[in-house]
Amino acid sequence: MKNQEDKFKKVISHAKEYGYIFQSSEIYDGLSAVYDYAQNGVELKKNIREYWWKAMVQMNENIVGLDAAIFMHPTTWKASGHVDAFNDPLIDNKDSKKRYRADVLIEDYAEKLNIKAKKEITKAAKRFGDAFNEKEFISTNPRVIKYFSKRDEVLKRMAKSLENEDLADVKDLIVELEIVCPVSGSKNWTDVKQFNLMFGTKLGASADSAMDLYLRPETAQGIFVNFSNVQKTGRMKIPFGIAQTGKAFRNEIVARQFIFRMREFEQMEMQFFVRPGEEIKWYEYWKEKRLKWHLSLGLGKDNYRFHDHDKLAHYANAAADIEFNFPFGFKELEGIHSRTDFDLKAHEEHSGKKLQFFDHELNKNYVPYVVETSIGLDRMFLAIFSTSLQNETLEDGSERTVLKLPSVLAPTKAAILPLVKKDGLPEIARKIIDDLKYDFNVAYDEKDAIGRRYRRQDAVGTPFCITVDHETKNNDTVTIRFRDTMKQERVKISELNNLISQEVSIRNWFDKI
Ligand code: GAP
Repeated sequence: MKNQEDKFKKVISHAKEYGYIFQSSEIYDGLSAVYDYAQNGVELKKNIREYWWKAMVQMNENIVGLDAAIFMHPTTWKASGHVDAFNDPLIDNKDSKKRYRADVLIEDYAEKLNIKAKKEITKAAKRFGDAFNEKEFISTNPRVIKYFSKRDEVLKRMAKSLENEDLADVKDLIVELEIVCPVSGSKNWTDVKQFNLMFGTKLGASADSAMDLYLRPETAQGIFVNFSNVQKTGRMKIPFGIAQTGKAFRNEIVARQFIFRMREFEQMEMQFFVRPGEEIKWYEYWKEKRLKWHLSLGLGKDNYRFHDHDKLAHYANAAADIEFNFPFGFKELEGIHSRTDFDLKAHEEHSGKKLQFFDHELNKNYVPYVVETSIGLDRMFLAIFSTSLQNETLEDGSERTVLKLPSVLAPTKAAILPLVKKDGLPEIARKIIDDLKYDFNVAYDEKDAIGRRYRRQDAVGTPFCITVDHETKNNDTVTIRFRDTMKQERVKISELNNLISQEVSIRNWFDKI
């Protein structure tokens, strides 16, 4: 646990030190759970967004994009259920005065049972070696059975109480499990209360005529209200999808964990409209497709897992999260929801307009069903950044900090470094930059010894360092150093563009899908 905390602190300080993420309005002591993306962060974020957009929109003939406004007619949020049901169950500890999400306290308790069971399994695997039969061990070892069944029982009871809006039972569960406040260590809890997460604002100048608005808490509704516009003008046929990226706002009460849970964040969502009755087939399809997209980035298969929901949102008939192994454990990265016809029907009812599709093959009109994929761009950023940040001990015993970002996403693809600041080497380096900059973000650095410059580029995540030395003047060759292996090769200047293109081309990365 201590290790995890240290690793997470390192991620946060590295993100600041190397110009990725700053606290918002830091000179005024910051604003809680709001962050700014700095010179490198904005590039990484843009590249992640593009990696998603190309996979979803450019690579699929039947998916188109949209950029709906953040402000929407207030009835949108009545129809979507956000006014009545977009609440978190909150509980306060009377001693520390800290506020928590009651469901998260219980989920953390269940995760601890999970970890205990996993430890028993790992211990036994070591003890029995090749003879170990994991399945048999899980089904017969009394301690593992006890941990897993207690975990399932706790999560089931919580899901049922939340579904029945039985907040008293959620509190009883916290008391029965003897969950303590992580800050005060006490069990002195208030009752559990619901709290709406939408930010309100006003449209219009005068107090009498101003209209109450909300900042959108998800981008999805902008897609639903435009369903017919896009379907008709794009002559789209079911099944088809509409994708959009953009800001969303939630008044998160328990906003900790850096950019994992923010009050202003960005979503990348796609709503896929299908025939009623075919939604589960498409739900399975998108679950698999989205996981493959994640795996293409090479962050490690073991860092992902599916979590199928026991407690379904009011609009869903199937739902799963892709969870990622963040520095603080496995948590939701992306949601895949089969949302039925809930949203389109609700907007039909509240607007009085038809949101239907005439299916020529079936010769009938219907309200399409929807399968949604929804991922937080900032969470994806954190997943990539925290996994890429590594400390290595080298052969000579020295240490290096390296940010092994997937090269396709790295903010700067190459740094061009003259070995010395004289003898015409800087001029050659500038010429190389002038050629490469049309295709890639490249940087120039001539300060300090070459070894220190390599380390600086390692820490900022630049995949290639190109060094211009005296030999360059004789034969137009440079060395290219690869960040991850630190291997160096001598190549012709004229080959650089092609070499970098191969390594960072989206086509080559998508081919891994
Ligand atoms: N339209 C469905 C929807 O909004 P959600 O599970 O509430 O579903 C989708 O959010 C994704 O948005 C999450 O999987 C997460 O990655 C991201 N997300 C949600 N709340 C967030 C927050 N406060 N800060 C950062 N990312 C958030």
